[in-house]
Amino acid sequence: MNTRPEGPRRPAATVLPGEIKRSLEERLAFLAISPADRERLRAMSEMLNSRGKEFVESFYRHLFSFEETARFLQDTAMVANLKEMQRLHLESMLEADWTEAYAVRRYRVGDAHAEVGISPEIFLGAYNQYLQFCVRHLAETFDESVRECAEQVLSLQKAVFLDIGLTLEAYFTQATQSLRHALDLLYRANADLRQFAQLTSHDLKTPLATVANLCDEALDEFRGQMPAEAARLVEAARNRAFRMSETIDELLSSTMSIDQDQALDVVESEAAVSEAIDRVRPLLDQKAIDLTVAEGLPPVLGDRVRLREVFYNLLSNAIKFSDKRKGRIRIGWVLRDDDCIFSVADNGPGIPAEELARVFVPFRRLPVHRDVPGSGLGLYFTKTMVEQQHGRVWAESEPGAGTTFYVLLKHATRPNAKRPPDQP
Ligand code: HEM
Repeated sequence: MNTRPEGPRRPAATVLPGEIKRSLEERLAFLAISPADRERLRAMSEMLNSRGKEFVESFYRHLFSFEETARFLQDTAMVANLKEMQRLHLESMLEADWTEAYAVRRYRVGDAHAEVGISPEIFLGAYNQYLQFCVRHLAETFDESVRECAEQVLSLQKAVFLDIGLTLEAYFTQATQSLRHALDLLYRANADLRQFAQLTSHDLKTPLATVANLCDEALDEFRGQMPAEAARLVEAARNRAFRMSETIDELLSSTMSIDQDQALDVVESEAAVSEAIDRVRPLLDQKAIDLTVAEGLPPVLGDRVRLREVFYNLLSNAIKFSDKRKGRIRIGWVLRDDDCIFSVADNGPGIPAEELARVFVPFRRLPVHRDVPGSGLGLYFTKTMVEQQHGRVWAESEPGAGTTFYVLLKHATRPNAKRPPDQP
């Protein structure tokens, strides 16, 4: 993580240099920051900066007591470095020397936090901690003169909000740029995908029909001369070709209706799972992965093709990233009230906690998977397809030990539906 020293690492890419000065002057004017404010802040800096270390230590105790913030602070060396950078950063605020360089530094800090995924709320919460610490300290010092103390607090508040405004702008500019970029890619990918689906369906179905016809011809003309086992194999090849042709039609209609709200049917999840397994069987055999499926998979409310594709995507991912000598995948299920929760658990490499929430984001690929072929859209489509069935999908993972994807759909009652033999 971050062990680099203070100093420029990249330009504040989010704000044009010419604009910084003007925007800073406007902010100072809007906050009505006067020479008296500067004087007060500088006077305070003498008092407060001497307690900078004390603040930073209490602040980190606070951050470590929340999982949400502690997860950013796993590296001890980085934390020591951060404490120092933060102290200096806050100290420089009270020096009230609001130059362009000051603003650039704030934008850069905003960029750095946005990049590692620290939300604006957490950042604001941190400033809140700082304000509380300062105000308490000032109240102790100035208790004989409440009015002066209030003035101090107000000046401090103005400086703090100037800081927040400058930093948050970088957060939001970066977020908006990423969003625009992602939407653009999504739009193009959607258009490409539809075109691809139409073209491939035609290009794939023609040779498949030829294969099926050739098989039929071979059977018609030579069945008598073939050993029974050979005829059985040719028949199997013909049936596979027909099935594949049907799959292409189904996928095409599923792609075309990707943004339409579908009526839900009672779907036999057992059939959907077994069709998905049929498709990944060669890969499972190739990697010698042990797949187990819990008994009695129940019917759910959904769409047959989409449910099959969901299982197919989850299984293909688990197989693709399997990194153990004895790869294992287990499909389970459990009923909770009206819901059925399916699970696809693997013993693969796992996903780091900070990446887990983003696995369903289009084009988001784990840095360690950059070299594995893939579009970065599989899990995004999985989520879309689950949501089109009014369900939910999420993942839990333990790096090094494996990942479990959960798919929640409405359970469709069937008189003989069994309770699960065990919890997934
Ligand atoms: C008063 C609020 C805060 C201030 C003044 C502050 C200040 C800073 C500064 C000056 C840097 C160095 C930026 C650079 O590399 O140029 C930094 C980076 C960082 N801060 Fe903060 N910070 C604050 C709140 C937080 C919070 C609440 C967290 C998370 C729990 C956090 C986690 C980090 C991390 C992980 C980095 C390293 C980013 C990277 O590697 O690029 N900070 N912070």
